[in-house]
Amino acid sequence: MTTRLDDLPLRDDLRGLVPYGAPQAPLPIALNVNENTHPVPQEVADDILDSVARALREINRYPDREFTALREAFADYLGHGLTAEQIWAGNGSNEVLQHLLQAFAGPGRTAFGFAPTYSMYPLLTRGTGAQWIAGERAHDFTVSPESAAAQVAQVQPDVVFLCAPNNPTGTPMGLDVVEAVYDATDGIVIVDEAYQEFAPRDERSALTLLPGRERLAVSRTMSKAFAFAGARVGYLAADPALVDALRLVRLPYHLSGLTQAAALAALAHAPVMLGMVDEIVAQRDRMSATLSALGYTPYDSATNFVLFGGVDDPARTWRELYDRGILIRDVGIPHHLRVTAGTAEETTAFLDALASVGSKV
Ligand SMILES: Cc1ncc(COP(=O)(O)O)c(C=O)c1O
Repeated sequence: MTTRLDDLPLRDDLRGLVPYGAPQAPLPIALNVNENTHPVPQEVADDILDSVARALREINRYPDREFTALREAFADYLGHGLTAEQIWAGNGSNEVLQHLLQAFAGPGRTAFGFAPTYSMYPLLTRGTGAQWIAGERAHDFTVSPESAAAQVAQVQPDVVFLCAPNNPTGTPMGLDVVEAVYDATDGIVIVDEAYQEFAPRDERSALTLLPGRERLAVSRTMSKAFAFAGARVGYLAADPALVDALRLVRLPYHLSGLTQAAALAALAHAPVMLGMVDEIVAQRDRMSATLSALGYTPYDSATNFVLFGGVDDPARTWRELYDRGILIRDVGIPHHLRVTAGTAEETTAFLDALASVGSKV
């Protein structure tokens, strides 16, 4: 007889949970997990290979546990006068968020976010034994400073996630919301800026709010704008004391020498790596315009993806696109689907396929 999960002495608080499971299907056009659909440019790939090759010569030794050079490079990239001691990094921003929760959530504590939001927040929270509490957004998925502050003041969570711009809706979040939430809580406030590079250039980052706010952390990732999802590199900026707290929970040498070498080489070419951002934003806007023309209702997006409503039967439309070789995401919001901006060709293929599917409300 095969063993089932229920037969194992699993933690009670993990029973019944479903793991993160965005489908990974080998389809020609994958627009489902908000990756950058453009590969790393060859000139940068060559440098990354050289850097990794050098790191390989010392791979018998543990890597720099403090990933000092990488933290300096992130501080330089982010600007705003940040220094290396204010930077932390991990294997994807998921691990960075996990470190925050391990240090500041855990059993008997709560984490909070405005739903619908990034599906890993509840999973990461529960993984540390803490409770997840979902707050509310307005019908258009925005959240006002007043509502945000009132909800946070009522719940008094230990950790607040502000996904800015928000996944899966694409919704931008003003810094007035961040300020209001920070003032409404004594807990840790995490602003997840995974998609910040796709926001309008004049949009201020929450990094500008860091001075004087020792409970604020701003997380970023190389997975999206930097086209580095497969390398698994995320990072955050915060007060040095908050960064210090994360040392208590990380595994020693959690960032491998190869990861550090690859990320350092990529960061040295930041402008080239980010070169595709404008093109992706153009495709995103083309997607939104055509979705409207097709009778769907795309939401305002400051990211590399578009959530659109007006879908009669999302599961059916998803399947019909799948059968045409196109993978997008059913994020579980009734009558909505989410699609990542692709290359010009991929975007055209998606829009043509959707027009031929034609299952609007
Ligand atoms: C809002 C948000 N935060 C964090 C992540 C995690 O990214 P990674 O772990 O690849 O850095 C994602 C990935 O889709 C995301 O959408």
